Amino acid sequence: MKIAVFSAKKYDQESFKLWADPSLEFSFFDVPLDQHSAKLTQGYAAVCVFVNDNLSEAVLTELKMMGVGMIALRCAGFNNVDLTKAKELGLRVARVPAYSPQAVAEHTVAMVLCLNRKLHKAYNRVRDDNFALDGLLGFNLYGKTAGLIGTGRIGVATAKILLGFGMKLLCFDIKKDEELVKAGAHYVPLEELWAESDMISLHCPLTPQTQHLINDTSLALMKNGVMLINTSRGGLIDTKAVIKALKSRKIGYLGLDVYEQEADLFFQDLSGQLIEDDVFKRLLTFPNVLITGHQAFFTQEALQQICQVTSENLLAFKANRLSGNEL
Ligand code: NAI
Repeated sequence: MKIAVFSAKKYDQESFKLWADPSLEFSFFDVPLDQHSAKLTQGYAAVCVFVNDNLSEAVLTELKMMGVGMIALRCAGFNNVDLTKAKELGLRVARVPAYSPQAVAEHTVAMVLCLNRKLHKAYNRVRDDNFALDGLLGFNLYGKTAGLIGTGRIGVATAKILLGFGMKLLCFDIKKDEELVKAGAHYVPLEELWAESDMISLHCPLTPQTQHLINDTSLALMKNGVMLINTSRGGLIDTKAVIKALKSRKIGYLGLDVYEQEADLFFQDLSGQLIEDDVFKRLLTFPNVLITGHQAFFTQEALQQICQVTSENLLAFKANRLSGNEL
């Protein structure tokens, strides 16, 4: 079975070679899937796509016309897929529900520690023979309060690390994880989480209900100097509201692995080009903002899991059975 892999980087090709099922025939395209590149899929039974590929109504219709029968997401989030249209067209969609919650949780905590202890600044200073400590003052995480929005796989993995630091844990989710409660977490209404947390980390999916969850109103309820971390999806944050909150010192630290308009920026080397996104460029001017380009998932273990589960999903489609990861 022939599969067209979009947004395919060198590391995708290498990991598919190592860990994907050898009976599947992959062609790699480094361009993202959109209405134009959808025309490349003639003769392919399936496409394999990532977080910023476009699976809107128009693209899905084009894929169907080209003879594609399945969309294999090599990620967990599926906010970029028009599932209603896919169903209407009879296109099967399957994802990799959990490739490594620990990978994202560990990156989340890496951002917390880096921002708090200002490692990004210390690294440059020491390389410049500057060993002064002024401006590098941090705080103990022990005894502080962390607020987690979304306690699914990644939220729980993050919670366990933070509990290990001796942090108090406040959580908000539409459903409770009783194990986490037993481990010492408290589920509270959102207003209480905003008001009580020293550090807030987002781990819920991007849905119409969670879009711009971080906005002028929620920011106003937070502690002055709060640390905000987003390794989930960019659309959870109203970036302009966050910039205002950074300027007013409401936000003391901001760690982002995702960004609302990341599709135009992330996963490519733009170092020789002009970035036209003024909002993104403004974010980069703050010394207390740390941005990584959607790399939280990026561990060897996660890539292996992605290849293996994507193979299972594709083989199930080929054999006309279900893998259990269909949406
Ligand atoms: P999950 O499905 O295991 O957990 C999501 C949790 O959010 C669930 O407990 C669910 O009940 C909760 N939730 C849903 N709607 C909510 C709402 N309105 N308010 C509060 N909670 C709500 O998903 P998982 O694996 O933990 O992933 C979380 C998110 O992380 C994904 O949606 C994805 O966007 C993002 N992600 C980011 C990666 C990265 O590299 N930066 C990699 C993988 C996932």
